[in-house]
Amino acid sequence: MDAIRIRGGNALFGETKIQGSKNAVLPVMAAALLIEDISIIENCPRITDVLHMQKLLTKIGCKVSRSGRTLMIDARHVSRDKVAGESVTGMRSSLMLLGAMLGRFGEVTMEYPGGCVIGKRPIDIHLDALQKMGVSIQKEEETFTAMAKRLTGSVITLPFPSVGATENVILAAVRAKGVTVLQNAAKEPEITALCNFLQKAGALIEGTGGPVLIIQGGCRLHGVQFKVPSDRIVAGTYLFSVLGTGGHIFLRDAPVSQMRSMLKLAVEMGAEVTASGEGLSVIVSAGKKAVPYVKTDVYPGFPTDMQSPLMAVLSTAAGVSVIEETIFEDRFRMALELSKMGAEILTDGKKAVITGVEKLHGCEVYAKELRGGAGLVIAGCMAEGETIVRNRHFIERGYEDICRDYQDLGVNIVTE
Ligand code: UD1
Repeated sequence: MDAIRIRGGNALFGETKIQGSKNAVLPVMAAALLIEDISIIENCPRITDVLHMQKLLTKIGCKVSRSGRTLMIDARHVSRDKVAGESVTGMRSSLMLLGAMLGRFGEVTMEYPGGCVIGKRPIDIHLDALQKMGVSIQKEEETFTAMAKRLTGSVITLPFPSVGATENVILAAVRAKGVTVLQNAAKEPEITALCNFLQKAGALIEGTGGPVLIIQGGCRLHGVQFKVPSDRIVAGTYLFSVLGTGGHIFLRDAPVSQMRSMLKLAVEMGAEVTASGEGLSVIVSAGKKAVPYVKTDVYPGFPTDMQSPLMAVLSTAAGVSVIEETIFEDRFRMALELSKMGAEILTDGKKAVITGVEKLHGCEVYAKELRGGAGLVIAGCMAEGETIVRNRHFIERGYEDICRDYQDLGVNIVTE
């Protein structure tokens, strides 16, 4: 039935464990293609985007197997097949295979990638950067071919610190001839995870976590065992859920150091948070405050992926809140569904104005993309009565088992 049924209106109490990060594991899986050996990836979340990436790697000739949360990728024998099919057109991260295939073969033909419908999501920054490394691009209607007689290190300045473009340049640069200096690189923790994986495999990368990355190409890469860090967006989803409902929860393995902007806002809204080496404790005992203004931004700013979960919570905060979305131009699709539950939200271009109402009421709503879907599940936990969130498959792209996690936190929630 592809839905989630929630009986909401109660505070959250309990403990749940945070899964491995979607946005970290996908580029790491692509990077395994650069290593003519066996990569062992631990703490790999069981999400559909990972399954899609597994399928793509298998199609190219990798042997991929899973044991629990450990993924083994044997990339000793791979082919330069076209990167195409549903797993490409349905998932933006398939684009990571562009840099990886270029690094491995100097050539790739692929379909244009898909992913969440949250704006135009062009790939010009990726292609322009790779062209500076000697790659020529030939565009067809549904596919494009990227080819380099000799992939060469270069000085590249990104016009915007795109996460995906940074990852693609890194992937190509570790196998290029010479040094690549990437300026205005994205600083998201998932970039650091990719660099750490490659460094463990023998790559030389300086400046990890900063805006300038210096990548020495051509190092011999060897098989590696790597643990994927916890998912900061999944942890943030539950952090903001308890702000929505009140209660006391513990998020085991929450990557606290990567969540500063979220924690700062959560505290301003009324959460008491305590971080330890084991995770994050969150207590919300009084009502939450509205947020006069918050904007989404590149890391370490407030993440765009948390914008919908935040909007759901603010729908019942006392007062008027304003969210400005600065990363994706079409990311307020959830607002209309929230209004069906009684929320008062006006969107105008990049801004959403949310006037807190006393309570939401449960009803049938439709997820239109991954993080908006998670926002609707939060709204369902907050609302009185029963909420049915349809299109569960969007949520399963990034949440291993959202119902299990909320059941751990005492919510009456089931899939159907
Ligand atoms: C990644 C994350 C996504 C997150 C986003 C921003 C993954 C799998 N996805 O997506 O969850 O929301 O970072 O933190 O890691 N842009 C261009 N041209 C390009 C590339 C991007 O104009 O060639 C624009 C996009 O349309 C968007 C902005 O740049 O407006 C940010 O995109 P980018 O940082 O590339 O995000 P993704 O890598 O797609």
